Amino acid sequence: MKNIAKSSKGLILLTGAAGFIGSHTIVELIEDGFDVLGVDNFYNSSPDALEGINKIVEQSSAPNKGCFFFEEVDCTDYNKFDEIVEKYRSKSAENSDYRGIVGAIHFAACKAVNESLEKPLLYYRNNIESLLNLITIMRKRSNNPNIVFSSSCTVYGQPADEDLPIKENSPLQMPLTPYGKTKQMAEYILQDCCNAYSNLKVCALRYFNPIGAHPSALIGELPRGVPQNLVPFITQTAAGIRECLSVFGDDYNTPDGSCIRDYIWVVDLAKAHVAALNKMIENKLDKWEVFNIGTGKGTSVLELVNTFIRITGVELKYRIAPRREGDIEQVWADASKAERELEWKADTPLEDILLSAWKWQQRLGNVNES
Ligand code: WQD
Repeated sequence: MKNIAKSSKGLILLTGAAGFIGSHTIVELIEDGFDVLGVDNFYNSSPDALEGINKIVEQSSAPNKGCFFFEEVDCTDYNKFDEIVEKYRSKSAENSDYRGIVGAIHFAACKAVNESLEKPLLYYRNNIESLLNLITIMRKRSNNPNIVFSSSCTVYGQPADEDLPIKENSPLQMPLTPYGKTKQMAEYILQDCCNAYSNLKVCALRYFNPIGAHPSALIGELPRGVPQNLVPFITQTAAGIRECLSVFGDDYNTPDGSCIRDYIWVVDLAKAHVAALNKMIENKLDKWEVFNIGTGKGTSVLELVNTFIRITGVELKYRIAPRREGDIEQVWADASKAERELEWKADTPLEDILLSAWKWQQRLGNVNES
C-alpha cells in the first residue's frame, strides 16, 4: 500500500467510488489534501472510472495532494467491509502524526427510479443494509464518525407551487418509488443515530439533478444500457447511438409545457461534499444537518435541449412523447442554506456543463455500456 501522505488532512472512507458522483468527489477530496479509501462492488459502475481518477490526480497541479486507495467491496458484506476499513485504519495508525479516518461519504446505493418499482427487495436490502454497515463501522473504527450522506430531492415528492423554490424545512412527502423511500428512510435512520450516539455527526446532502462531466473528460456519467436520465440520452442521441430523444410530455403546467428541474454540474456537487466535510471536521455544523445541493435555478427539458443544440451545433433529433409515469412536474432548490453555511455555491453556466457532457461523450465515442 502506498505510504499515506504525512501532510494529509486524514483518511476519508468513500463508498460508491467508481460511480458518477463518487468518482468526481474523490478527485476534489484528493486535491483538497485528503487521502481517500474508495470502495465499490461495480454493480452499477465500471473499473474504468478508477483509471480516470488516477490520471486526473497524476496530472493535477494541486499542492499537498492526498493518496487514493481502492478496494472492491460489497457494502452489504459487513465482515469484508469492516476488515478492509480496519486494514487501512491500522496501517495509517503506524504514521504517528496521522489523523486516521476523519470522515465518510456514503454514495453506494441502487438509484434507478423505475428499476426500484420492479425490484423493491433489492433496493431496500442494498440501500438500507449498506447504510447500517457504514454507520456501525464508522462508530467502531473512527474517532471522528463524520458522515456525509448522498440524499435526494426525491424526498420532497412534488412540492406545492407555493413551496418552490424548495427549502430544507419544506414538508417531506411520501416518495413515489422504493428508491425515494430508501433515501427518506435513510435520513430518519441517520437522524435517530445522531440523537443516540454522542460523537456521531451527519450531513445529508439532498441532490437535485447532477449532470455533466469532469473538464478533463477522463471521468463522467456511464449509464448501463439505455440511459434513464435526460442528459446522457441527449449526448448518446447526438453521438448517433440513439435514434431520437423522446421529450416526455409538453402538456405540464409550466411555461413551455415540459418538466422543470434544477440541473447542477457534477463537479460543483462534488465540491459541496468537500465543503461539508471540512465544516464538520472544523466542528462548524450541528450534529444533524440537511442541505439542498442545487443551483437555485429551474430549467425545463425543452430549454435544456435547445441550449444543447445551440452550443454544440448538433442537429439533435427529438420528438414530443407522452408523459413518463412517476415524473414530477417541477422542482428546483433554494440552496441559500448551503451557500451560507458551507460557503459553497453552484454557479457554473448550463452551457459550460452541457459542453462538458458532450466532450465526455465524444471521448467515449459510440461506445455505450451494454
Ligand atoms: C429529468 C427530466 C424527464 C429522459 C433524477 C434521478 C434521481 C434523482 C433526481 C438523485 C424529466 C425528462 C428524461 C428522457 C425526458 N437524483 N426526460 N426524456 O427524473 O428528475 O430524476 O434526479 O437522487 O435519482 O434519476 O431525472 O434525468 O430522468 O429526468 O424527457 O429520455 O427529463 O421526464 O422531466 P429525474 P431524469
